[in-house]
Amino acid sequence: MIKVAPSILAADYLNLQRDIETVEKGGAEYLHIDIMDGAFVPAISYGPGWVKQIRPISKMVLDVHLMVQNPERYVDEFADAGADIIGVQVEATQHIHRVLQMINNKGVGAEVVINPGTPVSAIEPVLHMVKQVLVMTVNPGFGGQKFLPETVDKIAELDAIKKAKGYDFDIEIDGGVNNETVVEAAKAGATVAVAGSYVFGADDPVAKVNAIKEATK
Ligand code: DX5
Ligand code: ZN
Repeated sequence: MIKVAPSILAADYLNLQRDIETVEKGGAEYLHIDIMDGAFVPAISYGPGWVKQIRPISKMVLDVHLMVQNPERYVDEFADAGADIIGVQVEATQHIHRVLQMINNKGVGAEVVINPGTPVSAIEPVLHMVKQVLVMTVNPGFGGQKFLPETVDKIAELDAIKKAKGYDFDIEIDGGVNNETVVEAAKAGATVAVAGSYVFGADDPVAKVNAIKEATK
């Protein structure tokens, strides 16, 4: 059964604690926190101060997705704020190996992220140093987009490398995930599913967390 990472991008910011507690009690293992800088992606979301305030109210794995140009500038701040995993987009830095080293040196789980247009080969040289790989299943920047089925082949490709080399990283998917789109992705090897609008856009977010899990049993 897949682990679920509700994305607070789609939560009610004026009732954020309520929404976080709802999904945590409802069985979500991760909480996905999307950081957008208005440069790598057009939107601006929120910063390390949010991670710092969320940390003491939740035991979920705080899964920070940096959609930020030159993420090396922010690793220390997000690590000190209490992130458990810090994800960096391979497209956003000229020094992916160094950034992942920085994250590991802070004692935080390092994650590398690839956009739909980026091949798995772009991250092969760093797969030995990550706790998680995020395969974007939409182009990053906004919630509520449609899942891109052509990304599923990359999940399978990663899963094959993982098995061949004996790595144990999680494979996460992000964008357009619901109880239908998650099925093929999980079959291909995805182990963590991010879901924003599907979960927090619903009247009963817990039912949606469970629906994702049930669909991948
Ligand atoms: C998109 C973000 C996602 C977003 C997913 O750029 O990285 O984490 O919250 O939203 P949904 O699940 O609505 O596609
Ligand atoms: Zn995300």
